[in-house]
Amino acid sequence: MTDDAPRIHRGLQGVYFDRSSTSFIDGRAGTLLYRGYSIHELAEHATFEEVAYLLLQGELPARAQLAAFDGELRAARAVPAPVVELLRALRDAHPMDALRTATSALAAFDPETRDNSVEATLRKGARLTAQVPTLVMAHHALREHREPVAPRADLGHAANFLYMLRGREPSAEAARLMDKDFVLHAEHGANASAFAARVIAGTQANLHAAITGAIAALSGPSHGGAAENVMLMAQAIGEPERAAAYVKQLRAEGQPVMGFGHRVYKTEDPRAQHLREGVEQLSREMGEPRWYAILEAVQEAMRPYARLGVHVNVDFFAGVIYYLNGFPPDLFVPIFAVGRVPGWTAQVAEQLAHNILIRPLTQYDGPAERPYVPLGAQR
Ligand SMILES: CC(C)(COP(=O)(O)OP(=O)(O)OC[C@H]1O[C@@H](n2cnc3c(N)ncnc32)[C@H](O)[C@@H]1OP(=O)(O)O)[C@@H](O)C(=O)NCCC(=O)NCCS
Repeated sequence: MTDDAPRIHRGLQGVYFDRSSTSFIDGRAGTLLYRGYSIHELAEHATFEEVAYLLLQGELPARAQLAAFDGELRAARAVPAPVVELLRALRDAHPMDALRTATSALAAFDPETRDNSVEATLRKGARLTAQVPTLVMAHHALREHREPVAPRADLGHAANFLYMLRGREPSAEAARLMDKDFVLHAEHGANASAFAARVIAGTQANLHAAITGAIAALSGPSHGGAAENVMLMAQAIGEPERAAAYVKQLRAEGQPVMGFGHRVYKTEDPRAQHLREGVEQLSREMGEPRWYAILEAVQEAMRPYARLGVHVNVDFFAGVIYYLNGFPPDLFVPIFAVGRVPGWTAQVAEQLAHNILIRPLTQYDGPAERPYVPLGAQR
């Protein structure tokens, strides 16, 4: 390799491709800020609606602004009947494939689909924030051969989401924990799905196109799937006493332990502690303390790996919360998508405000130039 050979950053690891004011992450210190506010304060005190407003508009809402935004979300929850029919036709698809296709279909019905101004993009983002939960729950009902539960405008975002699962109003505690989970998942820098959304917006495609692409990127197990795998691991372990042997076996096989390690965080993921408390409380409330005990035992067994910078991440606790709320494992990634719509939208709006086509290079390592021989000239 000569000195002027391009330096290749596979996976774009460590590459800054633009500036962003949506979130700040310090992976060594374990810091996460949304627009300057600590995730800890937001998780403790703010609702998802407040955080969605913060991400979309850049500032926390005043009381009247929040009430107006919340009203906008509640009024936008219903999805057009043809999209419900589409979900019916996709009843046997994986929930993420159905969500991706239905989100794309919403473009045909939104009054501002082709308006790429920042203002219209934010309005569309608010509508998608309200509609994506309805799509997820409608598809789930249809695949269970039930009619979808219509959203209720008298419930908050998280409570309505849980309500649409079975048509039963959740407890205030369950709704608060779900709300916190959405807050913790709302935005996370230049992850694969947000980057995909920005690449799409960079071509001046519309928000529905960008969010459809983001959902596609999120559906891969290396991005959205760890919560599901943690739950499957907890089920496979079965009893807290078996956790240490299970971890030992996985490590002997060179396998990672799900819910540990992170490309950016080399200390504990700051989002994890909020869900840890939630799992403990919910496990107790639901009379299933076993799940918290199993997770605690896995954490204990993983303690020696802390010196490698391998710590617990947000997905370690999220899966058990979803499970205890009655969600099947293949809905865990769609739940992540429900929380992430404001973050994707904020980044698309940011991209559109200072747009540039995102177009990197690959270094060619195929055959050198060679003559084309037409088929007719071949013997
Ligand atoms: C997320 C993940 C891909 C990050 O990987 P990464 O940034 O490339 O981290 P590295 O592979 O450089 O890890 C450094 C060391 O820690 C070890 N390690 C990383 N994650 C581990 C895990 N989950 N369990 C056990 N050991 C782990 C690696 O084996 C490596 O050790 P080595 O140097 O002896 O080989 C990886 O931690 C992982 O697969 N985690 C499990 C899946 C998960 O929970 N994903 C959700 C992320 S939010």
